[in-house]
Amino acid sequence: MNLTHERPDTFSLESAGRNYENISALNPTTLSIKRGERIAIVGPSGSGKTTLLNLFNSTVRASTGKITVLGNALEKTSGRNLKKIRSKIATIPQNLALVESLRVWQNIITGKIGERGFLGNLIDLIFPSKNKILRIHSILERLGIEEKLFETTSNLSGGQKQRVALGRALYQNPQAILADEPVSSVDPARAENLVQLLNQISQEENITLVMSLHNLELAKAHFPRLIGLRNGKVEFDSAPEDLNENKFKELYTLSEREILDDGEC
Ligand SMILES: Nc1ncnc2c1ncn2[C@@H]1O[C@H](COP(=O)(O)OP(=O)(O)O)[C@@H](O)[C@H]1O
Ligand SMILES: [Mg+2]
Repeated sequence: MNLTHERPDTFSLESAGRNYENISALNPTTLSIKRGERIAIVGPSGSGKTTLLNLFNSTVRASTGKITVLGNALEKTSGRNLKKIRSKIATIPQNLALVESLRVWQNIITGKIGERGFLGNLIDLIFPSKNKILRIHSILERLGIEEKLFETTSNLSGGQKQRVALGRALYQNPQAILADEPVSSVDPARAENLVQLLNQISQEENITLVMSLHNLELAKAHFPRLIGLRNGKVEFDSAPEDLNENKFKELYTLSEREILDDGEC
């Protein structure tokens, strides 16, 4: 019995793509991601990784094709229903989007802004219930930084801030976590540690994890499925062990050339 076929899709794209004027950020793409899958999206800068994640969390609309998230066709979903879907998809953006002047618990409590609404969240920020603080404490315990609960976020190290952003995602009780190059700005040991932690928690909680990564070795070591993007096109979508090494090298080589071309990484 193959259980993969019985799990519902968290995300599915049917010829879905996104253009910006004459640039194709993502060519029409068809793929599906099942509940509980853990996927790394790899590819050079400008290859469409962030666009793909933003299509999944519906902050960017598809220019063509159809996107289904948690069983809902996005083009037919708006208002309250769209908010509800969004509240189940947690995003860790590349810049973490933490408010440095707030306490750690306050940054985490904003994870529920989608569900609680602006006013409800404001009340939580000023008068948090004891239960909410206890829940945040237990999340921080799991992430190994519970002593930082009442700390001002700006006093934390880069690695600790990443954990706060992960804590905010977990506080949402998400069905999926989308992490956009969450380890691009820390040293290799911390990067590996965070990737491991995200994988472990996602496995334990049956959360779908989609992470974009620059580091191919990390992607190969920790993810059962890799999607390689280049110039908005899916170059491969497979298990690391089934991956044709040439495809990998191609992505690398072209990536280096492109880095030289556009001068960024
Ligand atoms: N808001 C936007 N406006 C115009 N072009 C964009 C926008 N977002 C992305 N692009 C373009 O789409 C392509 C893919 O970008 P992106 O998804 O950010 O790639 P990656 O995350 O892999 O670096 C790039 O050529 C980028 O310049
Ligand atoms: Mg990006």
